Amino acid sequence: MKLFNHTYIKLLLSLLLIVCGSLSAQAQPNSMGLSATDMTLLSMILVLFVVMLVLVVAIVLLNLLKMMLNAELEAKGIVIEETSVWKRLNDQLTGAVPLEEEDAIELDHDYDGIKELDNHLPPWWKWLFYLTIVFAVIYLLNYHVLKITPLQHEEYTQSIARAEAMKSANQDDTEEAIDESNITFSDDPQLLATGKTIYERNCVACHKAGGEGGIGPNLTDDYWLHGGSVQDTYHTISNGVVEKGMIAWKEVLSPANMNAVNSYIYTLRGTNPPNAKAKQGELYQEETATAPVATDSTAVMQ
Ligand code: HEC
Repeated sequence: MKLFNHTYIKLLLSLLLIVCGSLSAQAQPNSMGLSATDMTLLSMILVLFVVMLVLVVAIVLLNLLKMMLNAELEAKGIVIEETSVWKRLNDQLTGAVPLEEEDAIELDHDYDGIKELDNHLPPWWKWLFYLTIVFAVIYLLNYHVLKITPLQHEEYTQSIARAEAMKSANQDDTEEAIDESNITFSDDPQLLATGKTIYERNCVACHKAGGEGGIGPNLTDDYWLHGGSVQDTYHTISNGVVEKGMIAWKEVLSPANMNAVNSYIYTLRGTNPPNAKAKQGELYQEETATAPVATDSTAVMQ
């Protein structure tokens, strides 16, 4: 009886501790960066593991108890016939006729001394067979009569359709994606209104309300430190001039919003606001206005 008091009790206690530990770990904010479903799965696996351990321990304990009981009975001279759960289950599943009763199922065939028994098919086999019939009926009803679940071919067409839909959605996104290579100054009033709001929220502090410049340079003149083309200003806005105090706005604004504010500041050019900051950088004039029209340009282009 000492065995119960020590080893097994200790084992059970440590198991309990593991369960409590896993439960409290779940309650704490997760620091391992695991998602909620991950945590649920993990704790479910843990609980399953613990349950299995407890089951194993219970079986071991039961066997021990039985052994001790048998030893006690043996000492008193009582012998009981061993019919374990497994043996009974096995008998039921195989339906085998005991050796002593084999005469009853013996056929009258005798092949040079080899005799034949008329054994039944084992019940486990028959039940499996019945199960396949039930399965077939359910399968037939599900796939071919009621058509609840789609067949393989249908499933394939559905997933192809889903993929096509996703593909076209992505293509729309790439077409709308804005970066330095495809932007233009836009005069779309809605876009400019968005740009104005973004400018007022983020840029006024340094470039002032009219773009006349303060901490940051004047955005209304034709002189630019980092270039005045659509790509140049977008690039400056996007990547900033960090060492001069202009942050990289791509960390804050979406490409669409940077595009909007880029178009908005373009509308400020040439507005000559009062208190404008002195020109900085180099003169930039738009190519369309400044590029000299070469007489033989068509020839060159061809
Ligand atoms: C914290 C102050 C600050 C804020 C806020 C700020 N800027 Fe600037 N910006 C600067 C400074 C300083 C420069 C000049 C950098 C240099 O000297 O190279 C600059 C330069 C620029 C330039 C290039 C000018 C040139 O001459 O090449 C553009 C365009 C610009 N900013 C747009 C914006 C926009 C649009 C916003 C709002 C989204 C913004 N800035 C917000 C400080 C700021």
